[in-house]
Amino acid sequence: MNGSIHFYDFHPPMADIRDEVLEGLSRDPKQIAPKYFYDQRGSQLFDAITELPEYYPTRTELDILECNGAQIAEFLGNDCLLMELGSGSSRKIRVLLDALQPAAYVPLDISRGHLLDAATTLARDYPQLQVHAACTDYSSDFELPDLPEHLPRAAFFPGSSIGNFEPDDARALLQRVGRHLGEDGKLLIGVDLKKDNATLHAAYNDARQLTAAFNLNLLERINRELDADFQLDCFEHLAFFNESAGRIEMHLRSTRDQQVRVAGQAIRFAAGESLHTENSYKYSIKEFRALAGDSGFVTEQVWTDENQLFSVHCLRCNG
Ligand SMILES: C[S@@+](CC[C@H](N)C(=O)[O-])C[C@H]1O[C@@H](n2cnc3c(N)ncnc32)[C@H](O)[C@@H]1O
Repeated sequence: MNGSIHFYDFHPPMADIRDEVLEGLSRDPKQIAPKYFYDQRGSQLFDAITELPEYYPTRTELDILECNGAQIAEFLGNDCLLMELGSGSSRKIRVLLDALQPAAYVPLDISRGHLLDAATTLARDYPQLQVHAACTDYSSDFELPDLPEHLPRAAFFPGSSIGNFEPDDARALLQRVGRHLGEDGKLLIGVDLKKDNATLHAAYNDARQLTAAFNLNLLERINRELDADFQLDCFEHLAFFNESAGRIEMHLRSTRDQQVRVAGQAIRFAAGESLHTENSYKYSIKEFRALAGDSGFVTEQVWTDENQLFSVHCLRCNG
């Protein structure tokens, strides 16, 4: 028997994506939001990155969830309506579902095909589970499927995806999540910790160059979907820790003077000019507790691994 699955498509229209990409390319410095990494191939590349020896966040967060499953289940509560932001391949939720029986699971992700595949597989593997998958963009006000109002609400936001947002935008996103959760709603969130530069540098500059392929796939996607003519061999992957900002930055650096056409518009790149594609802010536990507090959440519990690489926070919405 398969679990039930409902799919809701709130994906932003292509015209909005075109306008946002062109606006980002007209800025100085040029910038495109990391949410655009995730077409089908981008999602597959990200999954491959999570298996790399250098990429500590996924295995460390999974370990923390596994070691503390019973307490997490108690915190989130059986029979809750459990949403997940940026659910990707829905791998981490399995650890929670082995300890918890939510009334429904609501994965939210911008990567439509990958979300549908992951939700279908999950519904097959958890036959008692009701899955309401929604393809949506949580970086602005986002819709949820029409779901029962009376159920207690909880959210899971793993992978330190909160670190992709500037701190002000991270606060605004947590406030949006809080509005969907309501008073006393629970939020379980994974946050990457500050650490030595070498560990961080290796995680975003892996020997197999999968992170480079993931970064460059953004240009391939724009070529395909926005009728552009980026030459991928004229851009190189650049990732480094910006100490003063407390974040990893990823860029695509133009190796020459060149002109690219995107959706009918000419875009000039100087040699050495970079297109900023991702920030990944790293927080101390104290810093993240303060950010959560400013966003309407009280921290109830925080777990880390023995090497203090990653943290998982249990937050309660104070309305
Ligand atoms: C860093 S991956 C994390 C995946 C998974 N949660 C994990 O922890 O391994 C980010 C996920 O969030 C999704 N995502 C990124 N930006 C998004 C946005 N603005 N709205 C919805 N989903 C987004 C991506 O498609 C991807 O699946």
